[in-house]
Amino acid sequence: MKAVVHHSYGSPDVLKIEEVEKPAVTDDGVLVRVHASSVNPAEWYGMTGLFIARLMGGLFKPKDPRLGGDFAGVVEAVGAHVTDFKPGDEVYGGRSGAFGEYVNVKNAVARKPANLTSEEAAAIPTAAITALQGLRDHGKLQPGQKVLINGAAGGVGTFAVQIAKAFGAEVTAVTSTKNVDMVRSLGADHVIDYTKEDFTKSGRQYDLVLDIAGGRSWHEYKRILKQTATFVIVGGPKGNKWIGPLGNTLKLKMASMGARQKVVFFIAQFTREDLAILRDLSESGKMKPVVEKVYPLEQVADAMRHLGTGHARGKIVLKIY
Ligand SMILES: NC(=O)c1ccc[n+]([C@@H]2O[C@H](COP(=O)([O-])OP(=O)(O)OC[C@H]3O[C@@H](n4cnc5c(N)ncnc54)[C@H](OP(=O)(O)O)[C@@H]3O)[C@@H](O)[C@H]2O)c1
Repeated sequence: MKAVVHHSYGSPDVLKIEEVEKPAVTDDGVLVRVHASSVNPAEWYGMTGLFIARLMGGLFKPKDPRLGGDFAGVVEAVGAHVTDFKPGDEVYGGRSGAFGEYVNVKNAVARKPANLTSEEAAAIPTAAITALQGLRDHGKLQPGQKVLINGAAGGVGTFAVQIAKAFGAEVTAVTSTKNVDMVRSLGADHVIDYTKEDFTKSGRQYDLVLDIAGGRSWHEYKRILKQTATFVIVGGPKGNKWIGPLGNTLKLKMASMGARQKVVFFIAQFTREDLAILRDLSESGKMKPVVEKVYPLEQVADAMRHLGTGHARGKIVLKIY
C-alpha cells in the first residue's frame, strides 16, 4: 500500500510516498481503508525530529518511517474478537501511520459523524479531543463561566470555541485580524484581535484560560485570571530544536509556582468515548470542523509547509483515497 514515509529528520522535503507493507488485522483490531487524514503539529515535530521526540522515536533516524495520526475511512476487515464494527462501516479515529492507505486500530475508533464528509471527519480527532479534554477534564468548565481561548483560529482553537459554547460558557477568542469574522461565526461572544489589542491588558478576568498559542509570560496572564481560575496550557510557539513548545510550558509552570490559580499542562489521549461525544456534537450541529484546505496525498509536503507557517485557519486535510 502507499504511505507517506520519512527516513531522516528535517523539513517537509524529507517526506516521500512509498510502497509499504499493508498492516494485518489483529484479533482485537479494525482494519480501516483510510480516505482522509489531517495534519497536526505532532506530525511536524515527528518529521523535524525534536530532540525529546527522538528519545523514543529514534535518535538519528526515525524507527518508524510512517507519519500521521488522524483518519477517517471505511472498515475493510475486523479481527476475530471484534463485535462492534463490521466491514463497510464508516469510521474515524486516531492511529499512528495514518498518512497511508490502511491502518489497523484497536481502541481509538468510532462511527464517523453521519453529517460529515471523510475530509471533515478526519479534521476532528487530535484537535477536537485536545479541545474537549482541555476544557472539560483539565479546565473543569462549567456553564456560565467566562473562558478565554488564546489561539482560537487554528485546529485546536476552532473546536475549542465551539465546544466551550456547547458547554454554555461565555467565550472570548483571541486571533489575528483575518480570522476575526470566522471565529465570531463559530459562536465566540467576544473576539480580541491580537494585532490591535493586548488581551492581557483588557481589565477583564476569566474563570478559565485555554492557552493554545502561548508566547506570553505568567506575569501577563496573571492579570486576566480570577483568584479561583484554572489556566490550561495546551501548546505554544515552536521553541528550540531540543524541547520545542515544552520550553513555553516549563517557563509558565515554574513562574506560576505558588500561585493561587490552578495551572495545568496535559497531553490529550484518544478515547473511543470522546470520539463518540465529538460525533454527537457534530451530528447535533453544535460543532463543525473548519477546513482551510484539502491537499491530495502527493502534496503532503505542501500540507506540512502550510501547517508549519503557524497560521493555518482551522484544519489542513490530506485526501488519501
Ligand atoms: N497538549 C496536547 O495534547 C496538544 C494536542 C494538540 C496540539 N497541541 C499544541 O497546541 C498548539 C496548537 O495546535 P493546533 O493544532 O491548533 O495548531 P495550528 O492549527 O497550527 O494553529 C495555528 C493557529 O494559531 C494561531 N496563532 C498563531 N500565533 C498566534 C498568536 N500569537 N496569538 C493567537 N493565535 C495565534 C493562528 O491564528 P492567526 O493566523 O490568526 O494568528 C492559527 O490559526 C501547538 O503548539 C500544538 O503542539 C497540544
